[in-house]
Amino acid sequence: MLSRAMQGITLCLIRAISIAILLSLGRVEARRTVDNMNVIDKCWRTNPDWRRNRQQLATCTVGFAGQMFNNIGDDVINYKVTDPSDDPLSPRPGTLRHAMTSITGKIWITFKRHMNITLAKPLLVSSLTTIDARGANVHIANGGCLLIKKANNVIIHGLYIHDCKPQEPGPVKGPGGEIMHLGPTDGDAIRVVSSSRIWIDHNTMYDSVDGLIDVTRGSTDITISNNWFRYQDKVMLLGHDDGFRRDQNMRVTVAFNHFGPNCVQRMPRIRFGYAHVVNNLYLGWGIYAIGGSMNPSIKSQANLFIAPKGGNKEITWDSGLTGNFKSIEDVFENGASFTTTVDAGATMRPNYAPDQMFEVEDGMRVRDLTKSAGVLKCPKIARC
Ligand SMILES: *[C@@H]1O[C@H](CO)[C@@H](O)[C@H](O)[C@H]1NC(C)=O
Repeated sequence: MLSRAMQGITLCLIRAISIAILLSLGRVEARRTVDNMNVIDKCWRTNPDWRRNRQQLATCTVGFAGQMFNNIGDDVINYKVTDPSDDPLSPRPGTLRHAMTSITGKIWITFKRHMNITLAKPLLVSSLTTIDARGANVHIANGGCLLIKKANNVIIHGLYIHDCKPQEPGPVKGPGGEIMHLGPTDGDAIRVVSSSRIWIDHNTMYDSVDGLIDVTRGSTDITISNNWFRYQDKVMLLGHDDGFRRDQNMRVTVAFNHFGPNCVQRMPRIRFGYAHVVNNLYLGWGIYAIGGSMNPSIKSQANLFIAPKGGNKEITWDSGLTGNFKSIEDVFENGASFTTTVDAGATMRPNYAPDQMFEVEDGMRVRDLTKSAGVLKCPKIARC
């Protein structure tokens, strides 16, 4: 039998060894998380002090939105939302709508606590605005949702947006405090109209009456990244209607998003314009995943397409048989198939400027790269 002293020493040793093992496992886990981060996340999530450097986020965009330097600097006004209520005509100080209507110039909006906001009318988002919900669970749900109309330089980051409902026409206070008369809206989570330089990153969106993202009426230079789209029929529409030729200039990057489960179609659907769809995870689809009409160009690159078990295996849909669909380096599972409509030699380069350029990752890595798509958990004292 061991003496009491020996037993004590053995216990201490076991404890010390266990702690050492746990610590190194923690380090391995942290290392693995960093290795799996995509280029956007690696830019700021590796910084444990991100709360004090919130503006760093704006420098992390890739794709057509470009780096969002216009949104940052010493002249940014920080606004903390403290009140979840909403009044479309006379918003109370502390509310999200008050932030949008009372301040002109650069504004960086954060949230004091977890909150659920039901908007009585769509929220008109002003130019040079960043909505940064990191660190709080903020739901915009069960009412009007976001409307980015004739605005530029907008970042939407870290929101749950869901159960968006159609709204009756009526007056709403807009940017600069101006009262605007809005027509009826269809119930989209984020509607982008005649706007440019928009970055929609790390949001979780589902179950809205019309679509989750609508980009229309001459909007361009947009990056839609790291979002989680689920439980939705019409997910993402790029291009207004078949008669709206101005959308020829539309350029959109769709990267590192997680589509599914239970998304039916339009991931995205594009008219005119150019979409670079890259490193996304498709967890099945109903009717199709990527489609278009009116001579659009879609470069699908290094995505992971997992076809639904029993259903339709074809990824694409081309209403007018006029689309330019190219698949390069995509990974197909469960028998997924992609109908290419351009010559193998057509490169369909996005022609990114230096501040839009990024390295496309191997499609086999897409599961890892999209693991934290949607709203991130950002604990008080650790990395996001
Ligand atoms: C907000 O709503 C979600 C469900 O949509 C719920 O899980 C959450 O607890 C709510 N949060 C608050 C702060 O009320």
